[in-house]
Amino acid sequence: MTATVRTFPDVAALARAAADEFGEVARVAIAARGACHVALSGGSTPKTLFGVLAAQGRSALPWDRIELWWGDERCVPPDHKDSNYRMTRETLLAPLGLTRVHRIEGERSPEAAASDYERALVGALGAPPVFDLVWLGMGPDGHTASLFPGSPAVAERQRYVVANPVDSPVAGGKTTRITLTLPAIDAARRVRFLVAGADKAARLHDVIDGPAGRFPAQLVRAADVAWLVDTAAAAQLEAHA
Ligand code: 6PG
Repeated sequence: MTATVRTFPDVAALARAAADEFGEVARVAIAARGACHVALSGGSTPKTLFGVLAAQGRSALPWDRIELWWGDERCVPPDHKDSNYRMTRETLLAPLGLTRVHRIEGERSPEAAASDYERALVGALGAPPVFDLVWLGMGPDGHTASLFPGSPAVAERQRYVVANPVDSPVAGGKTTRITLTLPAIDAARRVRFLVAGADKAARLHDVIDGPAGRFPAQLVRAADVAWLVDTAAAAQLEAHA
């Protein structure tokens, strides 16, 4: 696969570049359409990005016009330790007092929460919903959002948000996740993967340099996709500009 890969010396530099790009996308989207809609990701690398954004203070970005959504969620209440919303609230929303948030209600029936989230998304962003920016991570198994290898949501081509039955050690066994589907991710104006750490190096090589179609993270086909990675995660990559 021909991928745009940008490499940074460490996760802190990666997160600073991501924060800069967040601001740039927001300013362009707000100038063009009056608002900026962004899907956030769970995981440890976004957490570092949220820390950078929080440290920059509320005045660094036009937060009053930025609408925050999520790419996926675990089926847990919003204060649960595994909740992506909780992580974002603690690291970004609470520190900056952000309220323009559209969380996935993981505490409800997964199907109902997925349908309602899809309805809200389509109501705000059309069908397909066009995000200005979708942040994604990549798990050690090549999953992204909650599109785990072999799980039904990977094959979904109609719905934009689904409840996805997952059976994976990476997800902690048998569970259900609520996730954006490929049609929703692919409709975004810009998609950025954030990947850091030596434990991702082998899989990142498989995903970027290996045969196409083996891992969900390889299936994203949005118009503008790039990978922001640190040197540890990039250690096994073949040469990329
Ligand atoms: C989640 C995610 C998931 C994540 C990857 C990478 O809810 O866990 O959205 O897709 O981004 O598993 O996570 P790390 O950045 O922690 O490796």
